[in-house]
Amino acid sequence: MREPRTVRLDTQQASLVFGTTPDGGVTWLHLGALASDAPGFSMRSRATFSLDRDIAFPVMPTAGSGWFGPSIVELRRIDQQTLPLAFGRPQISDQPERLEFAFSDHAAGIVCSIIFERVGGGAIRSCTTLENRGHGPVCVDRLASAVIPLPANSASLLSWRGVHGAELQECHEAMPCHIWARETRRGIGGHGGPPGVYVLSHAATWSEGLVIACQLAWSGDSRLAIERTDEGAWILSAEAVLQPGELILKPGARYQPPAIILAMSTDGRNGAMAQHHAAVRERVSWPSAQMAPRPVHLNSWEACYFAQDEDKIAALAEAAAAVGVERFVLDDGWFANRSDDRRALGDWTPDPHKYPSGLRSLAQRVRGLGMQFGLWVEPEMVSPNSELYSSHPDWVLSVQELDAPTARNQLVLDMRRPEVRDHLFTVLHRLLSDAPISYLKWDHNRDLAPPGGAAQVAGTYELLARLRTAHPNVEIESCAGGGGRCDAGIAQFVHRFWASDNLDAVSRVAIQRGFAAFLPAEMMGAHIGARLAHATGRTQSLAFRAAVACMGHLGIELHPGELSAHEQAELSGWIDFYKRWRPVLHGGHLQLGAGADGLRWQAHGDGRQWLLFVIRTAPPQDRRPQPINLPFIANRDWNVTLMRLAGENRWVGTQPWDVGEDKSITMAGGWLATSGLPLPPMAGESVAIFHMDPAP
Ligand code: GLA
Repeated sequence: MREPRTVRLDTQQASLVFGTTPDGGVTWLHLGALASDAPGFSMRSRATFSLDRDIAFPVMPTAGSGWFGPSIVELRRIDQQTLPLAFGRPQISDQPERLEFAFSDHAAGIVCSIIFERVGGGAIRSCTTLENRGHGPVCVDRLASAVIPLPANSASLLSWRGVHGAELQECHEAMPCHIWARETRRGIGGHGGPPGVYVLSHAATWSEGLVIACQLAWSGDSRLAIERTDEGAWILSAEAVLQPGELILKPGARYQPPAIILAMSTDGRNGAMAQHHAAVRERVSWPSAQMAPRPVHLNSWEACYFAQDEDKIAALAEAAAAVGVERFVLDDGWFANRSDDRRALGDWTPDPHKYPSGLRSLAQRVRGLGMQFGLWVEPEMVSPNSELYSSHPDWVLSVQELDAPTARNQLVLDMRRPEVRDHLFTVLHRLLSDAPISYLKWDHNRDLAPPGGAAQVAGTYELLARLRTAHPNVEIESCAGGGGRCDAGIAQFVHRFWASDNLDAVSRVAIQRGFAAFLPAEMMGAHIGARLAHATGRTQSLAFRAAVACMGHLGIELHPGELSAHEQAELSGWIDFYKRWRPVLHGGHLQLGAGADGLRWQAHGDGRQWLLFVIRTAPPQDRRPQPINLPFIANRDWNVTLMRLAGENRWVGTQPWDVGEDKSITMAGGWLATSGLPLPPMAGESVAIFHMDPAP
């Protein structure tokens, strides 16, 4: 019998600590704030009505061995009952940046390993791998990406839910007495955003206290669960859901489910959020290996919907270029027969009536105006009323004898089939080769029924990877009826997410803050829509719409040629503002917070200076605005400038501030952190934008 020992992986703020047991197992000792040395003996208390041989929380928990919590892996022999696993002593690879435990069940021929490794920004990436080294096939019912303990002082949890037009709405709940679960079954991640959860300790705030936050890097069905065991411990499990019988592992085959990104911060929600942003940034592959300044978009959808042709689009492009747009994206409606959403998906050739000289000539005209040209596609879909469907009705996801239900009049292609992926690659490759297209908006406008399982997602990833390899300079935007597919899984292949079809700036504030919980601001498409928001029918000032959109990757989704000369000048002023400040807006640091009376704020920084957006959606209920505390800038003096007060603020004035870039006030960071930044009165639907630069 070997001496028990501990192994650990530390980040700057947190530790994972494991102990080996005399019988060769490995159990969790700690997951939470940075820990000092664990005692060299077991501190586990005894409990009545328990097994004589105590089973503490194993790093590779499986059922049947006396562990009564959730299992990390569930297997079956084909047509048989559960295949019980009995793992022996694992091989442990213990490096400063990475821990790996590889467990084997020699009798069953199964090797299951789990790694924890440090990634940029202080987060941990964890994933499991299963290998069938036996003689017969094995059916994998479940392989979780993580089953981990949560700190004992966990008090509440944050998650996000959403629907089309109201994505990523924050939910705050107490820790459960039994099980809390967030399960998605629509085949794509859905409008609730990435499969992720924040667990807050008793003392956690925006900027202080222990927060554990995980997201699964996955774009398909998922299950996150937090369970309170009868031992009194909290356990979090995260997994990509497999369809029954979907995954048969042949002898010699391996399966690796998606990784989870695990942020552990003692700097509150903002610390955990920063770790997620850094971890996601590491996954993104930019053309030329570096993010270029995020160009201002014009997306044609709400400007003209399906009513388009070369002349109309050329006029829209000219109006876009005149206000300073840098990338023009031609949305749905450009391909043959696509006069509405009842036809033609799958037939990806330009409409000869709308575009008699093809896309090449249009793209060249757009480039001649100094803009990049981008194109909307929805590759995974097919309209029953299309040539593709007539030739290959068997290519859709379907179950024999059952009608596959249409949604938005379309069916889903079976991405598990290599011939479907080959066809789509050929078509997209041709489009990208025939015209100077440097951007694809990749849509997915329905839920999956019947399901395609994890293999459908893997098929889409494979197609995306192949296309990226063939066209490494083409950027891709992930869209699914707005923000239905925003996650760290697809982030490996894309460069922007369309967060919502709802361009109403009041709605957008909550959506954008939900997005920020897991994904960085420079990847969030944020457009200035028409004065009357098409999604809600509400109207807002141009300044308020623009200020809200400046918090992401800016675009416009209206016809600038239909604005008055005054509005065009104002719009162009906002585009200039964004271009000037995008190095700070996308500089890598983001802090969120809330003030009294419904105020929300967020600060974007590049490591030296900050742009602070103070956002008021509803009219104030207090006579005077209360200061907001900015704990992240306590360390020095700052020149603070109120650069813009965007919205209908003319009734309330700007006291005690003068608006303007030459009107800075020097304030001590300690005062801003503790007493707070004094604010001007703000009307409902307005944003105050401050600049903060270190005072000399
Ligand atoms: C989805 C997208 C929109 C637009 C339409 C086109 O709804 O979210 O932005 O591209 O499809 O049909």
